Amino acid sequence: MKHVHDFLNQHITDHSIIGMGSGSTIEAYIPAAAEYIQKHDLDVTFVPTSTRTEKFLHDHRMTTSLDIEKIDFTIDGADHFTPSLSAVKGYGGALLREKQIGYFSKDIIIVAKEDKQTGSFEGLKIPVEINPFLSELTKIQIEGISEAEITDRLDGDDLFVTDNGNYIADCRFRSIPDISSLHNELINIPGVIETGIFDRFISQIVSFSDNDMVIHKN
Ligand code: A5P
Repeated sequence: MKHVHDFLNQHITDHSIIGMGSGSTIEAYIPAAAEYIQKHDLDVTFVPTSTRTEKFLHDHRMTTSLDIEKIDFTIDGADHFTPSLSAVKGYGGALLREKQIGYFSKDIIIVAKEDKQTGSFEGLKIPVEINPFLSELTKIQIEGISEAEITDRLDGDDLFVTDNGNYIADCRFRSIPDISSLHNELINIPGVIETGIFDRFISQIVSFSDNDMVIHKN
């Protein structure tokens, strides 16, 4: 992973405000970022996409803030991606804050293992964050889209609750003619808070293996 971490560190400059994603790929990177920042004595503020990432950053003596007026760029992981810069995220449940922080960033750099690359998201799990109020009706409405199969995200025997107090419906769609249209159809259902479809915001995807790295960008 050192080759990927070195690449990411090159983007960190003094006084930057950086969105920091969630998940194991990001948690593997945070110690390397912290070491780089401390070694070069840089003033960097992180905007964390989850309470878990916030704690991890604090454990590494990094500064975080949500009281910011801009985000220079965000580094995040993904669960699936296409080389044309679309991704599905949210297997860790942080999709809403990841989407918000990504949207307000000038750039998003996604870093993901090469085996997460796909040509299509058809049949793959796509997380959708839904409001607990009337959630059964919300799910019935989602099921109407391309005969979606829905599984409730669980945390042990209970429903998983996001950092924002919502549930996750893990959806599989048999046919996805257009991923942006699917996002639009879902987000138009009252009760759908956000989808794990990232189809517009990503500026580059770093796909890596143990020794190699490929950068997909526009
Ligand atoms: C968190 O909700 C997700 O969007 C993560 O970014 C994604 O699941 C990647 O996680 P890993 O790095 O653990 O695979």
